[in-house]
Amino acid sequence: MYARTASAAALLGAAALLLPAPVTRAVGPDPGPDGPAVIAHRGASAYAPENTLAAIDLADRMGFDWVENDVQRTKDGELVVVHDDSLARTTDVEQRFPGRSPWKIKDFTAAEIATLDAGSWFGPKFAGARVPTLRQYVNRVERNHQKLLLEIKKPELYPGIEKDTLRVLRRAGWLSLHHVKHRLVIQSFGADSVKAVHEQRPDITTGFLGAPAVADLPKYARFTDQINPPHTSLTGAYTAAVHRLKGAHGRQLKVNTWTVNTAADAARVDDFGVDGIITNHPDIVRDAVGD
Ligand code: G3P
Ligand code: CA
Repeated sequence: MYARTASAAALLGAAALLLPAPVTRAVGPDPGPDGPAVIAHRGASAYAPENTLAAIDLADRMGFDWVENDVQRTKDGELVVVHDDSLARTTDVEQRFPGRSPWKIKDFTAAEIATLDAGSWFGPKFAGARVPTLRQYVNRVERNHQKLLLEIKKPELYPGIEKDTLRVLRRAGWLSLHHVKHRLVIQSFGADSVKAVHEQRPDITTGFLGAPAVADLPKYARFTDQINPPHTSLTGAYTAAVHRLKGAHGRQLKVNTWTVNTAADAARVDDFGVDGIITNHPDIVRDAVGD
């Protein structure tokens, strides 16, 4: 009897080895054992110019693997990493191209943008930092062994930017099973943009930026895995309402809140049970929540 049971168990074990592993598709910044994940907003942007390679390198040196960025599109179709839809605040474009106010990204070519200084506005030691293309950016995130919370910024200005983004990511190797499973989340304030990403690549983890009414959350859960609200209006009850639902990949809908820059605010949202905290000051948040 024992022998039969043992051989049946052995057979079952062998069969299990032949079966495909269960697919766990939705990923994202998982809370660590000691607290929520800490995500460096636009890189370590309190200490280096936002959305530059210097900002993600610094986040890496500070020990942070998740970085957030903002993706937009140039006049000639290149994807670049910049927050505002104008280049004026974070580059020297006004001096370099004085006649081209209001200096919108969509009105400049990639070659023109590549000549701009995106570091001096922040501090002299960053002079010469460039606006990275998305390709350059993901290559650096890769080199640093980091993970990317990619925001499609103002998608209404750039029809089809979802497809462009996926193309760049695919060519850079960022849609491999490993990347999609462990290292990439795509988010946007535009629900249609998040939906488009989900429809074109249902395996990718997505996030919706904002705080939809609780009654509307089930609709969002059909195409997203995260609800990422501003911390200023966040409550424990709202966080719990999100957590009660399953997202597009059948796992608990997550909450990553932004932009939390003080220890007091970090402790407050940690008490709500958020999964991740997006911050310009990852060091302050880490100290406050013990990640
Ligand atoms: O990732 C959250 C946050 O980046 C959204 O706001 O304006 O900083 O892109 P914003
Ligand atoms: Ca952003």
